[in-house]
Amino acid sequence: MDKEMIIVLDFGGQYNQLIARRVRECNVYCEVQPYTISIEELKKKNPKGIILTGGPNSVYGPKGLFPDQQLWEMGIPILGICYGAQLITYVLGGKVSPAPSNEYGKTEILVDSKECLFKGMEDTEIMWMSHSDHIEIMPEGFHVTAHTTVCPVAAMENPEKKMYGTQFHPEVMHSVKGKELLANFVYGACGCKGDWKMDSFVETTVDEIRRKVGDGKVLCALSGGVDSSVAAVLLSKAVGKQLTCVFVNHGLLRKNESEEVEAVFGPEGPYDLNFIKVDARQRFYDKLAGITDPEAKRKTIGEEFIRVFEEEAKKIGAVDFLVQGTIYPDVIESGLGESRVIKSHHNVGGLPDYVDFKEIIEPLRMLFKDEVRKVGLELGIPEYLVFRQPFPGPGLGIRIIGEVTPEKVKIVQEADFIFREEIAKAGLDKEINQYFAALTNMRSVGVMGDFRTYDYAVALRAVTTSDFMTAEAAKIPWDVLEKAVSRIGNEVDHVNRVFYDCTGKPPGTIEFE
Ligand code: XMP
Repeated sequence: MDKEMIIVLDFGGQYNQLIARRVRECNVYCEVQPYTISIEELKKKNPKGIILTGGPNSVYGPKGLFPDQQLWEMGIPILGICYGAQLITYVLGGKVSPAPSNEYGKTEILVDSKECLFKGMEDTEIMWMSHSDHIEIMPEGFHVTAHTTVCPVAAMENPEKKMYGTQFHPEVMHSVKGKELLANFVYGACGCKGDWKMDSFVETTVDEIRRKVGDGKVLCALSGGVDSSVAAVLLSKAVGKQLTCVFVNHGLLRKNESEEVEAVFGPEGPYDLNFIKVDARQRFYDKLAGITDPEAKRKTIGEEFIRVFEEEAKKIGAVDFLVQGTIYPDVIESGLGESRVIKSHHNVGGLPDYVDFKEIIEPLRMLFKDEVRKVGLELGIPEYLVFRQPFPGPGLGIRIIGEVTPEKVKIVQEADFIFREEIAKAGLDKEINQYFAALTNMRSVGVMGDFRTYDYAVALRAVTTSDFMTAEAAKIPWDVLEKAVSRIGNEVDHVNRVFYDCTGKPPGTIEFE
């Protein structure tokens, strides 16, 4: 399918997918590719424009990253952001040097030219700066389009060559008109019409999957969470009964979850899927016995997951592909630019080095959670499923600090069930993006009736977030918390203390491990 496309070339910056997402919000398809992509491959994709990302390196240092030299001759509009702008400068004969003073955070930009990137903007705008190098001398043919009090070239352009650069990051939310700037590039400089929508994503992805899978068999690791459910329905649309969904009850699920997942994806549910449910509870508990280190737990759970899948695959016979619902925050949190195993790590909790499948398919890998939800709605998945709060692949295993035992799982399941019930009763379930109970490894002295107790402390966590990359602790009304705390103390054995976690992300993460 010939569609308008913008390519983001990745130089290792933190916000690369955010750039792609902002472009997609302009209804133009956008994907991130490594900066090492060959010119032949790039040409095949026929992009209308290219965006060069930021990155931690200096262009003039030994670790400068450079794309194929032919990129500069392609005649396709290029926007360089931060490192990307410095790269344009350096390669085309300008000068980049350490800035006399670093600039971090929201910065006032003084706009010098409102022709292209700054079309429709005010004389001053707030943009997000994060740099220690700066453009000292622009390459020939460029002129300044914005500056700050300390940065003479905050933005530049060469309209003839259709090359643009910004020292700031228009993609982050703190850049107030950043999205408008990207839209100006995409529509104004690249001439895109903006007729792409999420349903085109479904169409294209279904086509790609069909091409890749052929008449092969596919196994989907279904957890019942939003991501893997969307991935499963997408795959089912693409390859029908060539797909088998395997749902593993690893004994680390929320209360009643196994039954709930089966009701939707099992034989009684609305989908025409091959569905296999595996009760692997004891197997996981045995493997987890004695393990306390968070990473070791994730690895153990991930490894066991894959072994279960491999066994199921063998039973089905000749399965080539494994599908996972990995989404972009999973990828970035596990370290961008690393090997496949580490990237997939976050999703199932740590894939082993050796995976006995021809290929892993991760159709949602470049999407953010809210984009995945849009895809889910496009696919006709019921709203109550699409808007479920996320639940991590390693499940309660990473919500129990210290060793995982069946007894601790039971405690956290019960406490979590009560907390979720109280949040729903208070009508807060749509406002709070993720909320759950975890079990701290702390025991302390309490009193029940006339007896001394020495029991566990449960931690309640509730966060508001739009992309799960950063989050704030939800300001839950005190009476709701009070009710949950009192019920947990009364109804859950071996708990005599309940904490509410007020930490944001950063410095915390949403999960405890
Ligand atoms: P953190 O704890 O990293 O979590 O702030 C961010 C989001 O990712 C979810 N999460 C996971 N999801 N496998 C998953 O499928 C994992 O290993 C995993 N770890 C964290 C977490 O629930 C939150 O929504």
